[in-house]
Amino acid sequence: MKKILLSGIQPSGKLHIGNYFGALKQFVDLQESHECYIFIANYHALTTVTEARTLRTNTHEVAIDYLAAGLDPEKTTLYLQSDVPEVTELAWIFECITTVPYLERAHAFKDAEAKSKEINAGLMNYPMLMAADILVQDADVVPVGADQKQHIEYARDTAEKFNRLYGDTFTVPKAHVLEKVAIIPGTDGRKMSKSYGNVIPLFATPDEVKGGVMAIPTDSKGITEPKNPDTCNVFALHRLFSTDELPELEMRYREGKIGYHESKEILVRNMDSYLAPLRERREKIAKDAKAVAGILKAGGDKARARAAAKMKEVREAVGLV
Ligand code: TYM
Repeated sequence: MKKILLSGIQPSGKLHIGNYFGALKQFVDLQESHECYIFIANYHALTTVTEARTLRTNTHEVAIDYLAAGLDPEKTTLYLQSDVPEVTELAWIFECITTVPYLERAHAFKDAEAKSKEINAGLMNYPMLMAADILVQDADVVPVGADQKQHIEYARDTAEKFNRLYGDTFTVPKAHVLEKVAIIPGTDGRKMSKSYGNVIPLFATPDEVKGGVMAIPTDSKGITEPKNPDTCNVFALHRLFSTDELPELEMRYREGKIGYHESKEILVRNMDSYLAPLRERREKIAKDAKAVAGILKAGGDKARARAAAKMKEVREAVGLV
């Protein structure tokens, strides 16, 4: 029996290269060996997106991105989180066995607090909704980037707590975080993130790729000066897109045989050849909105049926029936 893999991405804007290498590419790579459930976390996006039209558009775009990146609906159940409303019921039940101080220790919550942001109750309870996504499908493996690792710990803790209180009900899931791509850096060297304004969108046009790469800040070393690839923001992206040339590039960096401008030009070329087939596929898929909606509908029906069966067990266990 294949292990159950589950993960999701929020439709809170355009997907970027960090989402792709940190998460989406792994969903694609693991879909042969696992039984896969991949969804669009539109309930989660409600914690930040308050315009219906924006949420709807983003959601549709992420669905197209999933397919363009290579998720195959024959192998992977693709669905909208909101087509499985059972997750909100389960999240409520989890909130009732979770303490507020425990939720206040979540990185996302502490970040928002440190920035004196207005924190809605949804943001605070976010990890419980995420635990519900994962546990309601009995997921074994959850591929994510490093920034989501803590949330998987919350899901594990919640599964264990529930099982202790009410009897063995949930599988305790494992995070799957690939070391090499756990934190994809953005154009400024910090983690690529929309909130830092340092992203390169996955489906950027060639001009956008060029603009993004050329704007990457570097130090002021001249062409013949030795450079450290380990601290260079351009080289960090070469590690993803220039794998064949990497040893040679590294040597040229260390020996002062390449300038940053040339390094950026090589990166732009390699990014374009990597991304071109994805872009082409995306253009084709985007032409048939009906087919995309059909795929999500079929996936939603399947995911919901599984969730409903699990919730029967849960309702029984907690005494709601
Ligand atoms: P989200 O939408 O912020 O990000 C989607 C995925 O992309 C990864 N990621 C990165 N990985 C490496 N380097 C980066 N710079 C980078 N930026 C983003 C994230 O780690 C994530 O895997 N809470 C989740 C969505 C979610 C979910 C779930 C995930 C909701 N329910 C259940 C797994 C299981 C989130 O906001 O991811």
